[in-house]
Amino acid sequence: MKSFDETDINTLRLGESEEDLETAAKIIADGGLVAFPTETVYGLGADALNPDAVADIYIVKGRPSDNPSIVHIADPEQIRDLTPRITEDMRKVMDAFWPGPMTMITEAKPIIPMVTTGGLNTVGIRLPDSRITRELIRRSGCYLAGPSANISGKPSPTTAQHVLDDFTGRIEAVIDAGPCRVGIESTVIDMTGEIPMILRPGGITKAMFEEVLGKKILLDPTLNKKPDPEKQADFKPKAPGQKYKHYAPDAEMILFEGDPDRVTAAIDEERNRRELAGEQVCVIDFRGSKQTAAHEIFARLRQADKDHVNVILAAAVPEEGLGFSVMNRLLKSAGYNIRRV
Ligand code: TXA
Ligand code: MG
Repeated sequence: MKSFDETDINTLRLGESEEDLETAAKIIADGGLVAFPTETVYGLGADALNPDAVADIYIVKGRPSDNPSIVHIADPEQIRDLTPRITEDMRKVMDAFWPGPMTMITEAKPIIPMVTTGGLNTVGIRLPDSRITRELIRRSGCYLAGPSANISGKPSPTTAQHVLDDFTGRIEAVIDAGPCRVGIESTVIDMTGEIPMILRPGGITKAMFEEVLGKKILLDPTLNKKPDPEKQADFKPKAPGQKYKHYAPDAEMILFEGDPDRVTAAIDEERNRRELAGEQVCVIDFRGSKQTAAHEIFARLRQADKDHVNVILAAAVPEEGLGFSVMNRLLKSAGYNIRRV
């Protein structure tokens, strides 16, 4: 297992050639860490059934040990190795959305180590829509534990360079397959209850699930709540990762919400005021397209940090469909610092 001062690994930047895939697969099979591309964000991968390898993910990310890692598979039937039961609802959403940006929470088989499940008796399983990563899984002969490949609390990585910015010298390799298509993480849906419940909004929306399942589903009630530091006990999201500070840029961030014209005017006014005071300002206005918003948000937040901006002024986006998932990320990155205008 690695220690904190073991920071001088030669991190390989691999491509999509056969040879590079073999190299990556061998690293995983030998218990090392390889960051891998998916359609959502880059993941930090290790053999999900090797507790020492998964423990290394937590060390390099600085991730709390109670936050489970999802497990990536290459083919739908592999789910049988990880969970004892496939319900009718699970089958429907798997058929509809895999490969794709959906993580299903299901009962875990005992072969999955505690370090991977964060001590829960459930596991999140995902079949990503990335040929290269599915090939990596097949060749390594392992399932891939894979949280997003960012330092805990920071914006998720949507390019190999983002991964290298966080982990050069700390992981064995990253496979560079260009920018991620969706740009925000998968929808996490809990399939263990009578009625499925979305724990983290993502690329697959509530309406898309309801259409496929032919019934209404639930949203974790904490998704519509602002966490109150005074009342920590009341804020218990079912996905452990959702209770932590998330996606946070170094800069102060303000999210402007309200009538569209007033939002534009308020952002302009705040920008002028700040610039006059000598501050460097970044404006993020994604109201034009939800897809672009999802695709760009993490890269923009990371760029703002690289540019050492003092403040990010962001416009709220309409909360329908994918917009709800984007707003979830904007709210968290702004630390719920909302200005209603
Ligand atoms: O798109 C994605 O899901 C990316 C790519 C790499 O696949 N992965 C990702 O992993 O976003 P991560 O660890 O950053 O986020 C997974 C979320 C966390 O909030 C975690 O707490 C939750 O899923 N989760 C994982 N296993 C769970 C479980 N058994 N029960 C409840 N929530 C779970
Ligand atoms: Mg993450």
